[in-house]
Amino acid sequence: MAKLYEQLAPLWPLLSPLEDYAADAERLRALIDQHLCRTDPDKPIDVVEFGAGGGHTLFYLAQDCRCTAVDLSDAMLKNSRRINADVTHIVADMRDAQLGKRFDVVLIHDAIDYLINEQDIAATFKTAAKHLCAGGLLIVAPTYTTESFVDGESMEDENADDDTEVRFVTRVATVPDQPNRMQMRLTLFIRDLATKELTIEKDTHTCGLFSSQTWIDHMQAAGFSVLADTYLEGDESDDQPIPTFIGVRD
Ligand SMILES: C[S@@+](CC[C@H](N)C(=O)[O-])C[C@H]1O[C@@H](n2cnc3c(N)ncnc32)[C@H](O)[C@@H]1O
Repeated sequence: MAKLYEQLAPLWPLLSPLEDYAADAERLRALIDQHLCRTDPDKPIDVVEFGAGGGHTLFYLAQDCRCTAVDLSDAMLKNSRRINADVTHIVADMRDAQLGKRFDVVLIHDAIDYLINEQDIAATFKTAAKHLCAGGLLIVAPTYTTESFVDGESMEDENADDDTEVRFVTRVATVPDQPNRMQMRLTLFIRDLATKELTIEKDTHTCGLFSSQTWIDHMQAAGFSVLADTYLEGDESDDQPIPTFIGVRD
């Protein structure tokens, strides 16, 4: 597993601040309202996020939904437990999780980037279908599709809390001879504010890169009717809109 989601996981709130998820979560909530047929409007909507990580999206959805966070990394879920007392947390792999209950919505936001082949996409969508009530929604929001990917794009930012300051640079690039892969390289400059000691960490994430049609084909193959192929708006005007696919379980 990537260092970011294991030994560096405690830095998640500084690297990807909670506030940055507010706009995406609001848009996801609106898409749920728009597409979920509710038989009992008084019953809370049951949402599970596969790859919920630090729980930043769920923090907002949990304000009026009953939420479950699933992730491979217990270190990441530790961050979520800190801010999401009412959310159920489960360590599991989204490709073969068996949660023993059905939900109204399966959400797979940025964690879907970590599926690097079509076999894993098929397995994950089959797992999603198994965990949805009839009429339930699968919402999939990869950071990039082949069509939206900007090869070589980089970004940098910095944040601090009382103890630690982190400056980081990320760059995404395609992988030669591997058309459905991209890599995100991350360099972190971590300063301990008490001792002034500087640590430099590097991490490389191998991610999948698939066309919109590939996502749609796999949703249909897993028994979903695709309702929408839309975008989550970025939270700042210069952010890339995030491709978003919504399927309903037949
Ligand atoms: C970018 S983080 C998710 C952040 C999250 N959206 C949030 O709100 O904080 C990606 C997460 O995907 C998880 N992940 C990657 N592959 C997974 C898999 N096969 N099953 C479950 N979780 C996975 C990683 O452990 C990591 O926590």
